[in-house]
Amino acid sequence: MKPPIEPFKIKVVEPLKFCSQEERENLLYKAGFNLFKIPAEAVFIDLLTDSGTSAMSDRQWAGLMLGDESYAGSRNYFHLKDVVEDLFGFPYVLPTHQGRAAENIFFNTVLKNGDVVPNNIHFDTTRANVEFLNCEALDCVIDEGMNPKNEHPFKGNMDPVKLENAIQKYGVEKIPVVMLTITNNSGGGQPVSLRNIKEIHSICRKYDIPLFIDAARFAENAYFIKMREEGYQNFSVKDIVKEMFSYVDGCLFSAKKDGLVNIGGFIALRDEELFLKLQNLLILREGFITYGGLAGRDLEAISRGLEEVIQEEYLHYRIQQTAYLGSLIEEIGIPIVKPVGGHAVYIDAKDFLPHIPQSQFPAQALCIGLYRNSGIRTSEIGSLMFARENKEKGQWIYPELELVRLTVPRRVYTTSHLVYVADALFRIKKNKENLKGLHLVYGSPFLRHFTAKLEEIT
Ligand code: F0G
Repeated sequence: MKPPIEPFKIKVVEPLKFCSQEERENLLYKAGFNLFKIPAEAVFIDLLTDSGTSAMSDRQWAGLMLGDESYAGSRNYFHLKDVVEDLFGFPYVLPTHQGRAAENIFFNTVLKNGDVVPNNIHFDTTRANVEFLNCEALDCVIDEGMNPKNEHPFKGNMDPVKLENAIQKYGVEKIPVVMLTITNNSGGGQPVSLRNIKEIHSICRKYDIPLFIDAARFAENAYFIKMREEGYQNFSVKDIVKEMFSYVDGCLFSAKKDGLVNIGGFIALRDEELFLKLQNLLILREGFITYGGLAGRDLEAISRGLEEVIQEEYLHYRIQQTAYLGSLIEEIGIPIVKPVGGHAVYIDAKDFLPHIPQSQFPAQALCIGLYRNSGIRTSEIGSLMFARENKEKGQWIYPELELVRLTVPRRVYTTSHLVYVADALFRIKKNKENLKGLHLVYGSPFLRHFTAKLEEIT
């Protein structure tokens, strides 16, 4: 595959530092083999996340100077509200400091003890926010979405039969909302088709259950629809986005991804009554409704980011860049989730490292190997993040997918950086039997991957 061409030139640069292997080794021990605890300055290429790591454009930086920092009624709020209404069609917008704050306020308002939330696959913070309220986060993705080798073009789709079965099993009164995560982050950054959104919408209408989108990567999803879904090739991305959101009641948005900013989020919706209820918690937890935990300048950067992210030259480059990294890794013969997702390449660690059982965190072992040898930071989306203990049976339940995510920050790295990553993986593959499993020394009951401490098994 040909490398992508960046539709921008670089105006400001940020130096990268090379640490010695010895320094990295020491840092790994100090960090309890948890890459979240490594100082970012000791990372050469940071593929931990695409969240809050985007490079803003000159237009966004200029927008920061136009921040109106009034406590109430900042002009930047009205700009954001107009952009959101124009793009998504929702008249009510509540800014939050990031996506999980939107989840917290939304779920605390709509859920009660024992409720169930179906989703294609919940992302970690979404799952944690649901479970923290003693509710069940139920994943209903199509079976193809759990098979890394299956090349279904819309592996993020929700299975309508699984959703219908859940509604029959739990009853409508226990399901206050259905969610769709686009793209489906925990399942490989895979898109959801418009056809599927329509299908899920009609089931939700039938039972009168609100449908909300977790919209963190909505623009990447829309671009996949344009590329892959019959009938949409001649649509603009903006029109596809409008159609996607026309079938749902609202969205939770982490602007740190497709908002092209470093911080921010919002809840947007149609229902005035729910908007009024959400306002109460927003004011209590985040701030007044026209800033919600952000500065006026941040709101301006989000509005401008939303206008830029749907530009097709940008999206073409973005999706090509990730696909290019995927093609380099595949050429080496390392198994990845196919097709390549929008924001990241996911390595199938279960398949790549059969000598490490899931109880010894094979995906984390690969993350550690990549940092140790080459200063590359990646993230584990596997048993460290998702394994659960069944205390009654005294057993651990491991997730089906055991993945290493190489997440590509937006507009940050060049082709040479990606070639460096592929080269590091090539060297790891040659000595992959040397990668060691790990055991857990400390794990918190929620979101344990952020703070866990591990030791290598020698
Ligand atoms: N929903 C999805 C699909 C996400 O990927 C994330 C964050 C959130 C919600 C929460 O948003 O970080 O602004 O609070 N994902 C990041 C990641 C952290 O690395 O994938 P947030």
